[in-house]
Amino acid sequence: MTTNNRANFGTKLGAILAAAGSAVGLGNIWRFPYMAGEHGGAAFILIYLGCVLLFGAPIMMAEFVIGRHSQSNTARAYQKLAPGTQWRWVGRMGVLAGFLILSYYSVVSGWTLEYICAAGLGHFADKGPADFVNLYNNFVGNPWIPVLWAVAFLLITHFIVVKGVEKGIERSSKLMMPLLFLLLLVLAVCALLLPGAGRGIEFLMKPDFSKVNGSVLLSAMGQAFFSLSLGMGCMCTYASYFKPNTNLPKTALSVSLIDTSVAILAGLIIFPAAFAVGIQPDQGPGLLFVTLPNVFQQAFGHVPFIASLLAVMFYILLALAALTSTISLHEVVTAYLHEEFRLSRGKAARMVTGGCIVLGTLCSLSLGVGRDYTLAGMTLFDLFDFVTAKLMLPLGGLFIALFAGWYLDKKLLRDELTNHGALRLPVYGLILFLLKFVAPIGIAFVFINELKLL
Ligand code: TRP
Repeated sequence: MTTNNRANFGTKLGAILAAAGSAVGLGNIWRFPYMAGEHGGAAFILIYLGCVLLFGAPIMMAEFVIGRHSQSNTARAYQKLAPGTQWRWVGRMGVLAGFLILSYYSVVSGWTLEYICAAGLGHFADKGPADFVNLYNNFVGNPWIPVLWAVAFLLITHFIVVKGVEKGIERSSKLMMPLLFLLLLVLAVCALLLPGAGRGIEFLMKPDFSKVNGSVLLSAMGQAFFSLSLGMGCMCTYASYFKPNTNLPKTALSVSLIDTSVAILAGLIIFPAAFAVGIQPDQGPGLLFVTLPNVFQQAFGHVPFIASLLAVMFYILLALAALTSTISLHEVVTAYLHEEFRLSRGKAARMVTGGCIVLGTLCSLSLGVGRDYTLAGMTLFDLFDFVTAKLMLPLGGLFIALFAGWYLDKKLLRDELTNHGALRLPVYGLILFLLKFVAPIGIAFVFINELKLL
């Protein structure tokens, strides 16, 4: 695939599913539940939904407009649309954010491979809640095994990106997304039937607004950007492969809806399961990896074969969901190096993979042998997560909203959103209002409130 001869996603559904493939990933099934768990549950989720509607969907439309109109990688896109201005830094910051996210995202993606093997080899049989906590802690603290899995995951991503991704991404997304959804539904039903699941539902549904502070707002906003793959040009890059007749507003809404439903479904599995077995929901990144094996054991433990089979299937799908996301992250950085520095695609991809292996290894070690090396009280893993999801992505989103709402020619914006008048768009005024005022002011407010910038 070269960007001079840009390929298209074959069908409209393919375009939606490829973008949804980037959006749906560990962010929904791993990060969303533990973030919600750490920040009090229902109130966090309501704020999250507000962020998706008010900031996420319009900013995704803006990224789509920028990408499809410029037909280039995210850094070049700003140079084309705003030549000779400083806007190009928005694209460059996005590329850096993508590189950092890919580094620590690969570590967690690697964990899914370990859990596929552990489930397949029957290591979950006869285990109880406390065993799963130990299993997880021993595993992530091990200096070698998680690093090797992360490297393996990066190499798989590398291989696919180098091969060219259109057919692969589109086809596999079409197959996997419905399957993942179905399996999540089955698991949600199982989790809801566990004795004691009720407290989990309550945690999800009954907001306690007394817990809401600046940190909760920032976390919910960061989660919205992370989960929707926004703020760093990922959706912009994908939109450059959209056809001229792709309906941008509708695609953005569909992707947001799919992404949010998957996150809520994951919550419906994990909280009832956690409360049912007495695991606290605020235990951080290990939540998914501790509660889920429990659901399989508790619900199907009397038929070990079924329990293992479902667990293996679930972790395979999780790994594949993560893979469609790592591909999209890798692609953003590779396309940038390839086009801007005249490197061959292969060489660009090798540099990205090599860099991520080094940083990913350090992130992984920072959860075990290196846990004492902290900066501002955070391990390297947490630091990468904080700097990208809570700073770079919302900041990128802020600039993208300003760019589309204020800088960009309104005729261009309207033409792209309506496919040159072919689509009716009664909410155009609303979208523009959200991009011009609501998103920038809202994001700035959350920043100022939490980071005490003023
Ligand atoms: N959205 C993906 C997830 O939820 C992760 C991801 C892919 C991402 N591309 C991104 C996050 C770009 C931020 C920016 O797992």
